Amino acid sequence: MKNQPRRVENVQTDKGSVPVYATGIVEQPWDEYTAADHDVWRQLYERQREVLIGRASDEFLVAQDAMGMTPDRIPRFSDLNAIMRDATGWEIIGVEGLLPELDFFDHLANRRFPVTWWIRTPEQIDYISEPDLFHDLFGHVPLLMNPMFSDYMQAYGRGGVKAHAIGADALQNLTRLYWYTVEFGLIRQPDGLRIYGSGIVSSKGESIHCLESDAPNRIGFDLERIMRTRYRIDSYQKTYFVIDSFQQLMEATEPDFTPIYARLAQMDSIPAGTVLPTDTVYHRGTGEGWPSDADV
Ligand code: PHE
Ligand code: CO
Repeated sequence: MKNQPRRVENVQTDKGSVPVYATGIVEQPWDEYTAADHDVWRQLYERQREVLIGRASDEFLVAQDAMGMTPDRIPRFSDLNAIMRDATGWEIIGVEGLLPELDFFDHLANRRFPVTWWIRTPEQIDYISEPDLFHDLFGHVPLLMNPMFSDYMQAYGRGGVKAHAIGADALQNLTRLYWYTVEFGLIRQPDGLRIYGSGIVSSKGESIHCLESDAPNRIGFDLERIMRTRYRIDSYQKTYFVIDSFQQLMEATEPDFTPIYARLAQMDSIPAGTVLPTDTVYHRGTGEGWPSDADV
């Protein structure tokens, strides 16, 4: 029988139907993975590694090799944890799915990365709308082996706890930063643009699209500009932001964001596909195939 997340979904309340997320940490039920689960992992892993050679950043590929993940079977969190603990002090914790924001921030601030324990079905190989084991483990965990990037993730978690206390607008600004760096970031290498964002590295279609399509914008990283930029979660990104290095990301996000949040609260948000006169443009998107309805 197929493994199902033990998550309560879409509970009826007086406000209508709301999703309920499990907040508890679960032991990875490794013995319960079926042959089909391991096979989905193997297929995705092999296909994606091939796509990522020459497309993912050197940092990502080096980190992934160092973790010792292999295609033959779903890794055990406990094996990966032994390696990560020595490298950067991070550990993986198993979860059922998306966590409430504050719980998520608190885990990151303590160098714990929540990984969804269940994997998509064979029918969902090309697309799944919520994070599963493949996205979390293959996409996010490797860069936690990179000292500088893993420090960024922890700083983000601490920043999240702070933004949560400030209010909804601050949280939205910070979430956009996560989206356009951790999930969908590109990095400039001497030999060209490369991917480091987890949402891209776990998707075959978007790995090719983000670098090779003429449709999206590719624009230089700019902290406040990103914090004002809306995004969609259900289609390829209209704009990708390019960092020069993890060092640049660390330095740009080091200052206290409190005054930035206050300033941005007075400014309009920017649609996902807009290019501003002040942008550093590596590629101006043709906009081909873009959905015309509103960004989130
Ligand atoms: N410097 C940010 C703050 O003061 C914290 C942060 C660091 C946020 C790194 C994101 C990434 O809130
Ligand atoms: Co993710």
